[in-house]
Amino acid sequence: MTRKEALDSVKANVENENLVKHMLATEAIMRALARRLGEDEEEWGLTGLLHDIDMELTEGDMNIHSTLGADLVRELGVNETMVHAILCHNEAHGIPRETKLDKALFCVDPLTGLITTAALVRPDKKLAGLEANSVKKKFKEKSFAAGVNREQISSCSQVGPELDEFIELGLVAMQGIAADLGL
Ligand SMILES: [Fe+2]
Repeated sequence: MTRKEALDSVKANVENENLVKHMLATEAIMRALARRLGEDEEEWGLTGLLHDIDMELTEGDMNIHSTLGADLVRELGVNETMVHAILCHNEAHGIPRETKLDKALFCVDPLTGLITTAALVRPDKKLAGLEANSVKKKFKEKSFAAGVNREQISSCSQVGPELDEFIELGLVAMQGIAADLGL
């Protein structure tokens, strides 16, 4: 499947622009992480882009979120490595994360929220002037973006980079598509 086909499917299933932006941000960080680790950038990027494709269809029901998504992306012709990563990024299913791709999607997913919120509290609400050190400080402030699971982000070390490098990599990746993210 091409990136365009993946994005078209996302847009056909998701109306909420912020949710589409979340998937674009996840894609950008997944691509950067794949490059850093010498993994398949296209596979990792598309997994990020598609991972919440069923979020609106499942109406937030975490018991079916990502099982429906797995069915949808299978129909789109996505390989089983990608399907598995999408399935197990939702902890509600209790499916163990086995591959690097599984672990990567799991830690990248919440990082997008931390970085987005850190940009939005700036006076200009832009990513451009946001520094990695500021995001690292926000990570330690538990009350900041309290819904963002810090432990999940920290699991990046199971894939490769330690937390500081991971935050820097994620920030640069999101800055690279700031216009698409409206940030
Ligand atoms: Fe997500």
